[in-house]
Amino acid sequence: MISKRIQEVEPSSTVELTTRITVMKREGIPVIGLNVGEPDFDTPAHICQAARLAMEEGFTKYTPVMGTLELREAIADKLAAENHVQYGTDEITVGPGAKQCIYAALLALCDPGDEVIIPCPCWVSYTEMVRMAGGVPVTVREAGDFSLDLENIEQAVTDKTKAVIINTPNNPTGAVYSRESLEGLAALAEKYAFYIISDEVYECMVYGGREHVSVSSLSEDARRRTVLINSFSKTYAMTGWRLGYLAAEREVVKAINVVQSQMISSVNSISQKAGTAALRGSQDCVRDMAAEYERRCAFLHERLNSIEGICCRKSEGAFYLLPDVTDYMGREYNGKKIEDDLALAEYLLEKARVAVVPGSAFLAPGHLRITCAASMETLERAADAMEEALRLL
Ligand SMILES: Cc1ncc(COP(=O)(O)O)c(C=O)c1O
Repeated sequence: MISKRIQEVEPSSTVELTTRITVMKREGIPVIGLNVGEPDFDTPAHICQAARLAMEEGFTKYTPVMGTLELREAIADKLAAENHVQYGTDEITVGPGAKQCIYAALLALCDPGDEVIIPCPCWVSYTEMVRMAGGVPVTVREAGDFSLDLENIEQAVTDKTKAVIINTPNNPTGAVYSRESLEGLAALAEKYAFYIISDEVYECMVYGGREHVSVSSLSEDARRRTVLINSFSKTYAMTGWRLGYLAAEREVVKAINVVQSQMISSVNSISQKAGTAALRGSQDCVRDMAAEYERRCAFLHERLNSIEGICCRKSEGAFYLLPDVTDYMGREYNGKKIEDDLALAEYLLEKARVAVVPGSAFLAPGHLRITCAASMETLERAADAMEEALRLL
């Protein structure tokens, strides 16, 4: 019999959809996939070269649980220079992706029944990871413009609140949290003594002159209460290398390392060499990719808003758009009613052969989550196909 804990957990709907589309493509059905949260660029050549060198030099064994010292030094330097927050190398640990780092942090922090507040719409995995760690996810609405709603967060705080998970720039909303709102959150964390798990995997993609602010950089207290999460996946187009990291105060990292020692032993040694090269090398590739994502998001935003019935906020960061499609609810095609965003996403897959994720997967019913990490030509074809299909409703 499967454990109750896992029976209560939903599988990742975005991963499931990706599997389904892979099967469709294998069967020769041409699908434009705007569903995956993954850079379409190749990993930059100098990073791959570092991995090749690592293999040739026989750097193929287990590493320390918390990652190689050279990688943690590179991360500490990066956090100081770019995020304006100082961490020692024993306050940093690596994991196979930010996803696993978040889960390890939750395992280390949550006692059974502890509550973790999650502003939503939110990334699909937070609620389920909290459940797997024995905690209770408490979702609260973000404001209408997808900024942090501090009043909602404060109202949700109880004596069981252990942490708040934030994600800026945000998947799926594309919002970038302002310095003021993060100062407000840090003040709440101090007042009610909770942790902030700050997922910053899209930090390099901020648009329109906005700044990315790491909440841990705001004060010594905020630094003490924050588990800063980051990854190489999106910044350096390294999703398959499975390399992420976290930074937190020493006592928290020590506890997380207990989890890591029993769960992963260490991260792939070759990926760690590649990650070090990524951080130590030129950041031009990061800036170039981010500029391209901004151009694509702006393009698709304009195209979507020109479609009757779609209302889409501009992306402030990351590479997602979350158009409101409630106007289509209740419309019909061939006598079949579009009841919700799940049905609309299914319709677009069948009719336009464009894969997008129903907003419900991100606790944003009535919306679709669309990835802009595809070439302009692909986005143009997708927009044409969606427009044509939606016109029939
Ligand atoms: C908000 C957010 N956090 C974390 C991750 C996971 O990143 P990684 O590949 O480093 O595990 C993703 C991936 O889609 C994400 O969107």
